[in-house]
Amino acid sequence: MRLTQEPIQVLLVFAKEDSQSDAFWWACDRAGFRCNIARTPESAVECFLDKHHEIVVIDGRHSRYFEPEAVCRLIRATKPSENTVLLAVVPQKPPDQEEPSVLPLLCAGFSRRYVENSSVSACYNELIQIEHGEVRCQFKLRACNSVFTALEHCQEAVEITSEDHVIQYVNPAFERMMGYHKGELIGKELTELPKSDKNRADLLDTINTCIKKGKEWQGIYYARKKSGDSIQQHVKITPVIGQGGKIRHFVAIKRPHSDNNKQVSQCELTVLTPPTECHSLRHRDRRKDSVDARSLSSRGSDGKTNRRYSSVARIHSMTIEAPITKVINIINAAQESSPVTVAEALDRVLEILRTTELYSPQLASKEDDPHTNDLVGGLMSDGLRRLSGNEYVFSKSTFQRTSYYITDHLAIPVTLNDVPPSIAEMLDDEERWEFNILELEAATHKRPLTYLGLKIFTGFGVCEFLSCSEATLRSWLQVIEGSYHASNSYHNSTHAADVLHATAYFLRKERVKSSLDQLDEVAALIAATVHDVDHPGRTNSFLCNAGSELAILYNDTAVLESHHAALAFQLTVRDSKSNIFKNIDRNQFRTLRQAIIDMVLATEMTRHFEHVNKFVNSINKPMAAIEESSSNSSDCEGQANIRNSPENRLLIKRMMIKCADVANPCRPLELCIEWAGRISEEYFAQTDEEKRQGLPVVMPVFDRNTCSVPKSQISFIDYFITDMFDAWDAFASLPGLMEHLSENYKYWKNLDEMKCKSLRPPPPP
Ligand SMILES: *[C@@H]1O[C@H](CO)[C@@H](O)[C@H](O)[C@H]1NC(C)=O
Ligand SMILES: *[C@@H]1O[C@H](CO)[C@@H](O)[C@H](O)[C@H]1NC(C)=O
Ligand SMILES: *[C@@H]1O[C@H](CO)[C@@H](O)[C@H](O)[C@H]1NC(C)=O
Ligand SMILES: *[C@@H]1O[C@H](CO)[C@@H](O)[C@H](O)[C@H]1NC(C)=O
Repeated sequence: MRLTQEPIQVLLVFAKEDSQSDAFWWACDRAGFRCNIARTPESAVECFLDKHHEIVVIDGRHSRYFEPEAVCRLIRATKPSENTVLLAVVPQKPPDQEEPSVLPLLCAGFSRRYVENSSVSACYNELIQIEHGEVRCQFKLRACNSVFTALEHCQEAVEITSEDHVIQYVNPAFERMMGYHKGELIGKELTELPKSDKNRADLLDTINTCIKKGKEWQGIYYARKKSGDSIQQHVKITPVIGQGGKIRHFVAIKRPHSDNNKQVSQCELTVLTPPTECHSLRHRDRRKDSVDARSLSSRGSDGKTNRRYSSVARIHSMTIEAPITKVINIINAAQESSPVTVAEALDRVLEILRTTELYSPQLASKEDDPHTNDLVGGLMSDGLRRLSGNEYVFSKSTFQRTSYYITDHLAIPVTLNDVPPSIAEMLDDEERWEFNILELEAATHKRPLTYLGLKIFTGFGVCEFLSCSEATLRSWLQVIEGSYHASNSYHNSTHAADVLHATAYFLRKERVKSSLDQLDEVAALIAATVHDVDHPGRTNSFLCNAGSELAILYNDTAVLESHHAALAFQLTVRDSKSNIFKNIDRNQFRTLRQAIIDMVLATEMTRHFEHVNKFVNSINKPMAAIEESSSNSSDCEGQANIRNSPENRLLIKRMMIKCADVANPCRPLELCIEWAGRISEEYFAQTDEEKRQGLPVVMPVFDRNTCSVPKSQISFIDYFITDMFDAWDAFASLPGLMEHLSENYKYWKNLDEMKCKSLRPPPPP
């Protein structure tokens, strides 16, 4: 019987991803085990019931997320956990502290304890020791169940006795043949049972001598049934070697014998194999495979498959990792082949990295390119991080607070049915990625958000979901659109409409649709609509440097994004006429509000790499692993489990709005060019003002006299866009966007090579 099954499945229960969970992840990869990660006790149990993992590793280092014992008990309470090894990861104790007892863990149901160590080798060794020890034992135990089931059902009578001939087991066929009930036999010595007198006098001695020597005896024997009748049997008695290498059992297999003439008796040396097999170490070095994952991209003959594979392959080869994650991986790998002293020094390095902001843009900024540096500095840092105290300029707010009253009384539709036919026709095109938002901007006299919002919100049944009238929705859209600054050359309501359009487009993608529920959809559409409301056309760094009211209010942290989120709710509930939330119950409102705020805050660029990395590690990689392991048929159920967990839905929503927010380089070339012109103009205006007011110039390359728009676009795409859209494409499948992206990139590269320095690039060829 095969005592192992491939591959071993491992469940990691870690509330937070860190180097320890990563190390187990890579250890599984190396050992060729399949690995799932659960973030909460609930999802752990759910995942476990689905997959029946052989090994469950529970993080027991931070009881503020969950009690490891409680999680262990939850899993032990399920039926399949009988054959599961549960491993508790415990914190390292300072050397002067007494080693804590392992007993409470064992009592909770843990099988073992692992002292925190995020070396991949340490995790790997632990896992394969478990595999070769307890997991294999568990397989044997499970195998025993099958073996006994076979015995219970076989036709031959089977009797197992101890070394001193006490009956330990008889099967039903034995009961039938001899007329005894097993209760009357088990525990009795064979010599206590009545014998038939038909056997040759010395037969029993012969048999005993034979089997006591460890040999198998086969022959014909007369047994006496309970009724007193004799029955002639063909008998085979086999000694079984057990503990201490001694004979511990005899197994007798008997069937009725009818041939009276032949009395063959044989004593043979049996091959006494202990019931164990040692498989050679089966581990394949998967790590090598995954490094070679690039070669995947050669698979698939048609371009589409090719492209998808290459996206997945890129994720595997981890080109997308934030620099800090790469650093940790490199150190981990180096530790494995380093002398102890170096490995220990590297441990301390890892410790420092662990306690510092892992995704800090300062660490990520390795570029020599001034465009990248300026973008990173300008978009990803706030005033406090960039400037020392004395550079921090307090000044009277330069930022004009908007009046929120709508002064513009353009013809606004009463309902969707009243939309002018020319606009309605235009909006019919809205589901296409290539939809021209600039035409809508012109046709609606700079009210693209209201019109597009009405169309999209209606299409997604937002009014029904919120139980609000279309009039309320329209009024709300007008209030929101009216609070975008028409004077901004980029961050005006056309940008909001563009992000709303992209969000709706993503929400209709099969993978996204099946991951999210309607509340998520409604939240995403609202978040997209409001995500830049009242944007002053200046970056966070500028506001911090200028000591603006908002920067002071929000302590220089996520200043704009906090303001957009806060103001959106203020504007919404200010007037019942435009309060789209007025009819939903309190709980639903809170859930919706939380989701909207989370998405708006996710558009802040300081945490860009964190969001993208979490998405890749929690969603792309596990899904790619499932896709690969189940070869041609994709494991829909397994993938759905990954996508539908609340934590992962949160990551999907964040990723979606982030991608929608910066999707300009994935739009058709003419739109991409227009957006590039608008954002550059807005940055130029900021630089002008910084110079005028003697403020630090946050992004010096964005100087209207010297700037190269192509260079800044290339840097932006290289640094922020490519990896993020690779990951999003691998999830949502967006071949059209990726094609535009690569075409646009080529366009900027060409322009750059032509050393064209005009402020606004020429129209496309
Ligand atoms: C972690 O495991 C590695 C590899 O087994 C070992 O060399 C190292 O000493 C361990 N570190 C700690 C802190 O125990
Ligand atoms: C947004 O700014 C551009 C200038 O870059 C302008 O042409 C357009 O009309 C503005 N849109 C709105 C809705 O204000
Ligand atoms: C800003 O910092 C102050 C002082 O630490 C704190 O009381 C206040 O709540 C913070 N405000 C925000 C919006 O974080
Ligand atoms: C893979 O596809 C082939 C035919 O397309 C099918 O016969 C086979 O069962 C599939 N294998 C798996 C693991 O789904």
